[in-house]
Parts: sequence; structure tokens; C-alpha cells
Amino acid sequence: MSVSRISVAGVSTRGFFISFEGGDGVGKSTQARLLGDWLAELTGREVLLTREPGGTDLGKELRAAVLHGEEMGPRAEALLYAADRAHHVDSLIRPALERGAVVITDRYLDSSVAYQAGGRTLGEGDVERLSLWATDGLLPDATVLLDLDPGIAAERRAVTGEAPDRLERAGAEFHRRTREAYLRRAGADPGRWIVVDAARSVEDIQAQVRVDVAARLGLTPVVTEAVTEAAEHPSGERPTPDGARPSGEGEEGGVARGETGPGPEGRA
Ligand code: TYD
Repeated sequence: MSVSRISVAGVSTRGFFISFEGGDGVGKSTQARLLGDWLAELTGREVLLTREPGGTDLGKELRAAVLHGEEMGPRAEALLYAADRAHHVDSLIRPALERGAVVITDRYLDSSVAYQAGGRTLGEGDVERLSLWATDGLLPDATVLLDLDPGIAAERRAVTGEAPDRLERAGAEFHRRTREAYLRRAGADPGRWIVVDAARSVEDIQAQVRVDVAARLGLTPVVTEAVTEAAEHPSGERPTPDGARPSGEGEEGGVARGETGPGPEGRA
């Protein structure tokens, strides 16, 4: 199977870059993991599952400061998220994309625009420019927004019994503005965004995410081929005519499934 090269913000890379966005407690990390498993199987590529803040060692320190440290103003908060993102892109995401991996991040630049601009009311343009500078312009090929009423998300978080972090404590009005900012942003760039109703079951959400991400990344023919093959060979044995590779082997050497970032700490 062949997966075409794509261009990310003018930089030619061989990988795919996907971000998950949404409020706290909407189920992003579960959906990101399920999509990663599926894309690893489908494409045979390395899948790097990561997150912000805290996808690197330095990022973990910044994460502790911004989520559990002392109170700070919105500018300091925005700069800490941007510093985490700059190092994340430079040390982890770009190298992975350059070696042909599928990179899936649980939050990226749009979190800053939704939370620090929408929620904290810094200027949207300022926050976006800060992140674009931090990442040297790297934007995802597809961004999945798991959209959920913040009240429902707060109820889901409450049952976990975990102490809320600084952002989770920001209040209902803050989270309402954050959701609105996400929806505005998604509406303004439908070529990048995929909006999914996160009130549905995990399985239903994942089914929609797979179809829409595959379409966005030009993988629909690969999916169709895999489905047809599974129907013709239900035992799981795949023929290998013309040197076609069996499932799990990549065409560009990226066969290992790398995983980093998300630890056991409270994830959505
Ligand atoms: P986390 O526990 O990772 O939340 P979630 O599982 O919901 O993603 O905490 C990250 C918090 O940081 C979350 O409240 C969103 C916030 N955040 C920002 O405010 N700006 C940002 O740029 C990023 C990446 C996250």
C-alpha cells in the first residue's frame, strides 16, 4: 500500500500530523490512542502518541508549573504553553514527521487559542502568532475537535475524584468561552478541522474519527483496500502477490510503534 507524501505548512514531510482538541474531560486521550492503534495497523507506519503540555522531559516540568504551580497572569501562562510547544515540536514532533511517522498529539496550538485567548481573553491573533513563532509554523494536517457541553464534561471529571488543576478550576464561564472559541476556529477552517459530537459512545465517536481522518489524509483508498481484503480473507491471512507486504510491515522502514507522552496522570 502506498501513502502519499504531504506538505505541512510549506515544509515537505513524509509523515502525518494529527491533533485532538476539546475541553477537559471529553475523552481525547482515549480517542487518540484508538486512532493510533488503527493507523499503525492500516499504514504500517510508526505511530507517535504524545501530548501537550508535557510531551517531553522539559515539558513535564513546564506542565507541573503551569497546571499545579503558583497563580500567574495570562501572559505568563501563554508563554509557558508556548515554550512547551516549541520544545515538543523541535525535539519530538518534527523529527518523527521527518522519518515518516504518524504523530498524534493530545492538544496543540489550538488549545492555546481556545484557552488563553477564548478563556483568558488575551488577543486571539497574539496567541496564535506566539505559537506559530514557537513552532516555526507547523500546523496539523487534521485536527479533531471533540465537542461537548462543558457542564457534561465537568460531571465526568467530578466522578474521577481527582483534584482539579488550575485550568479546570477556571469556572463555567471560562469553559463556555473556550468551547465557543474552538467552534469558531473549526468553522473558519473546515479543511483542517473535523468536529465530532463527544456526547456519543466511545465506539461511535471513533468510527466517525476514522472515516473523517482517513478522508482528510487521503487514506480512503487504503481503508477500502483493507476492508475488501478482510472480507475476501476472513481468516486474517493476507496474500502477498507482487511483493505486497503482510500487515504490520511498513514501506519506509517505520514499522515500530513508538509511544511517548501520555502517562497515568489524569487524562481526558
Ligand atoms: P490535561 O490534564 O492534559 O487536560 P486534558 O486531559 O483535558 O487535555 O491538562 C491540560 C490543561 O491545560 C487543560 O486544562 C487545557 C490546558 N491547556 C491550555 O490552557 N493551553 C494550552 O496550550 C494547552 C496545550 C493546554
